[in-house]
Amino acid sequence: MTIKKVGVLGCGLMGSGIAQVSATAGYDVTVLEQEQPFLDKGFAGIEKSLAKFAEKGNLKEPVETVRGRLKGTTSAQALADCDIVIEAIIENIEEKKKTFSALDAIVKKDAIFASNTSSISITEVAAATKRPDRFVGLHFFNPVPLMKLVEVVRTIATSDQAFETAYEFGKSLGKVPVRTSDKTGFIVNRLLVPYLLDAIRAYEEGVGSIPDIDNAMKLGCGYPMGPFTLLDFVGLDTTYYITHVMFDEFKERRFASPPLLKRMVMAGWYGRKTGKGFYDYTDPNNPVPNKF
Ligand code: CAA
Ligand code: NAD
Repeated sequence: MTIKKVGVLGCGLMGSGIAQVSATAGYDVTVLEQEQPFLDKGFAGIEKSLAKFAEKGNLKEPVETVRGRLKGTTSAQALADCDIVIEAIIENIEEKKKTFSALDAIVKKDAIFASNTSSISITEVAAATKRPDRFVGLHFFNPVPLMKLVEVVRTIATSDQAFETAYEFGKSLGKVPVRTSDKTGFIVNRLLVPYLLDAIRAYEEGVGSIPDIDNAMKLGCGYPMGPFTLLDFVGLDTTYYITHVMFDEFKERRFASPPLLKRMVMAGWYGRKTGKGFYDYTDPNNPVPNKF
């Protein structure tokens, strides 16, 4: 099957990045959001990112050509003729099932559905549609325009044809696809999430300060970001939702939310996106560590 038109659900951190890389690769892209202000915010981010690529001479076409392939909408009907629809809405199983079930009746029957979920079972979301054979996980990494990996996830119901089409689609975006199966967290989050949660527990236990733990992992292990900078970058709300799904699946402490993470999310401190997390981003170029 040939993919020409891509639908993206959600224009937040991930949806906007997925839309951007798809348009950059030459696909026509329509992004669905709940309300216009979310589209405006996401498209402003795309504009900024495309400008950076252009400035460095890393765009093969003028920004206007790429931008011309991108449309925003608040009507699901606009996705009817998409060849693939990639979902990047909130990490909540009921929301994802409701959204895909409604779209199943709208989007053409042979289109592939993909979820960018970090932790939710692809099989369970696919079961809310009448096309589980054409349902995969396409798990991108933040920031999507820069991170090279995409995990391509198959369930026991995914057809070989849908899986290979999704795999080739990932490649066509300039990403390196890896094949994985529908096990909670796939490859990266199975390993990354316990590490991030352990960093919070280490802080709670007084092992070191937030900047010291960050610097230790950056300078001692060569990680590009320390765990607290990365947690704020991913979003503490998203991380908290992920802990629910992963703990529910494995019932192991290493996947459970540390008390501090829960309290920060309850207080509305979601990290970079709300200006406050483990660091305060009042001046985004000079984050100041918070004290707890
Ligand atoms: N678009 C275009 N350019 C961008 C950009 C974007 N979105 N974001 C940053 N850049 C540019 C910067 O402007 C900068 O350009 P200059 O060199 O001209 O200044 C360049 O990229 C490098 O950026 P920075 O100097 O700000 O920072 P950096 O060297 O640390 O690189 C990074 C940034 C690639 C994000 C790096 O810090 C990194 O790899 N961090 C780790 C990210 C990570 O682990 N992501 C996975 C999260 S987990 C996940 O996604 C899965 C899940 O389900 C939760
Ligand atoms: P986000 O909060 O930045 O964006 C989510 C967007 O979805 C919001 O703009 C919201 O308005 C929109 N939305 C919610 N319900 C919708 C609906 N029914 N229809 C259309 N739009 C809707 O979240 P995010 O960080 O972009 O995460 C999105 C998904 O990607 C989650 O499943 C998350 O687990 C996954 N993910 C996140 C990261 C990360 O680092 N943040 C990395 C990989 C995967």
